[in-house]
Amino acid sequence: MTQNSLAIIVLAAGQGTRMKSRRPKVLHEIGGRSLVGHVLATAAHLGAEHVEVVVRHERDQVVDALSTQYPDVVIVDQDEIPGTGRAVQVALDALPEGFDGDVLVLSGDVPLLEVETLRALVDGHRAAAASATLLSALLDDPTGYGRIIRNADGVVERIVEQKDADEAEAAVHEINAGIYVFRAASLRTQLGRITQDNAQGELYITDVIGLLRGDAETVAAELADDVASTFGINDRVQLAEAGRVLNQRIVRRWQREGVTVVDPLTTWIDDDAVLAPDVTILPNTHILRATTIAPGATVGPDTTLVDCEVGEDAVVKRTDATLAVIGAGATVGPFSFLRPGTVLGANGKIGAYVETKNAEIGEGSKVPHLSYVGDATIGRGVNLGASTITANYDDVDKHRTEIGDEVHTGSHTVLVAPVRLGAGAKTGAGAVVRKDVPAGALAMSVAPQRNVEGWVEKNRAGTGAADAAARSRTAE
Ligand code: UD1
Ligand code: CA
Repeated sequence: MTQNSLAIIVLAAGQGTRMKSRRPKVLHEIGGRSLVGHVLATAAHLGAEHVEVVVRHERDQVVDALSTQYPDVVIVDQDEIPGTGRAVQVALDALPEGFDGDVLVLSGDVPLLEVETLRALVDGHRAAAASATLLSALLDDPTGYGRIIRNADGVVERIVEQKDADEAEAAVHEINAGIYVFRAASLRTQLGRITQDNAQGELYITDVIGLLRGDAETVAAELADDVASTFGINDRVQLAEAGRVLNQRIVRRWQREGVTVVDPLTTWIDDDAVLAPDVTILPNTHILRATTIAPGATVGPDTTLVDCEVGEDAVVKRTDATLAVIGAGATVGPFSFLRPGTVLGANGKIGAYVETKNAEIGEGSKVPHLSYVGDATIGRGVNLGASTITANYDDVDKHRTEIGDEVHTGSHTVLVAPVRLGAGAKTGAGAVVRKDVPAGALAMSVAPQRNVEGWVEKNRAGTGAADAAARSRTAE
């Protein structure tokens, strides 16, 4: 093994008491991804030979969450001995025997670090031939973090935890980000010497720094220039703050790629979403999970898209959509609800107060007002009249509705599935369609209208309606 091989240890075994949550802290999400997921996504770019995640609290939940997305990471179980030092010990023991490269220790609750920062940390460590290199930051409010204690010459001497700090130490604003590179051999030696003799009764990885300095080994420190990237998440206030910082980064990234974001403060874009140039995002809009938006599309205001695909020049306003595909030039909204399996063809329309699910709506077809369309296949150039409903559920099973090209339905048509309407067919207003309609046929199911002349004046004498009717007759 060469001196330059790299192992990454991600600490994710802590309880996360301050989150007050059923969910393990490292599985809380920002930008559509868990905290530890962000750390692993970043770690994946560093070309490490080994990536280990240390787990203990709610370990099965954490392992489950990681197994699908990060199948290559090695899970290491921490035992009952508490503390970050213990976590690193068990991870180090799980590396192949004799591993003598560099060990990068990352924290599962420090999600905003960028690849370049970590690369610079590892490169600097190697260039300085240091035994350890840590990442520090200057915070206005250092409360809760370990403090970096330097000697009169500015050389790092040790790290002291908030709970173990005296007044002078607590007044230091340079904090330990909890991110370190160690030479494996030095780390192994010093981990054998740390004790639980501190305010929390834990084995602290931070004690290794003081021990190394005691042995006159070189400890380097890199000061992070982007302070926010070192934020550690211990409670929900910090979770929201980190989410805001991440979102600002993502929004700016897309703005620089040519996306107009009218109101960055109310626009939330997940890390996995992809936006093309000349997309416009209007205020109060959430672009979530793996949503993609093609050039020229306008999305918002007040819209949430989860795992959706929006085509070129489409317009989507005041809409809630999940796992839906919206074709090029199509329009959706306002007040539309697109559920999974909705596929709207190019230049199609889903309008106000329309709900769709498992519905393929062909090119240029329109569902403009007040409809429910579920489990349906709709051809091209179709127009569903206002309030057309697919009755897809008979209390036992779901059934499909098939509608051919150029079909027009009258207002308030109920299509009782399973049912087919052939190409060019029409339905009368209020039709309840229980039988297939052949191509080109007109389906009507409503009884002919009968007018009973004079009924109101006879049966509702003295009412406003009767008076109005009488007046209108005299005027004739
Ligand atoms: C730790 C550092 C502190 C630093 C801060 C930066 C120590 C003793 N303190 O404090 O100097 O300023 O991070 O964010 O290291 N974990 C385990 N096993 C454990 C305990 C914790 O794997 O037994 C994991 C946690 O899941 C977490 C990380 O280690 O991902 C840090 O633990 P946490 O308890 O949050 O440490 P801090 O008090 O924040
Ligand atoms: Ca922490």
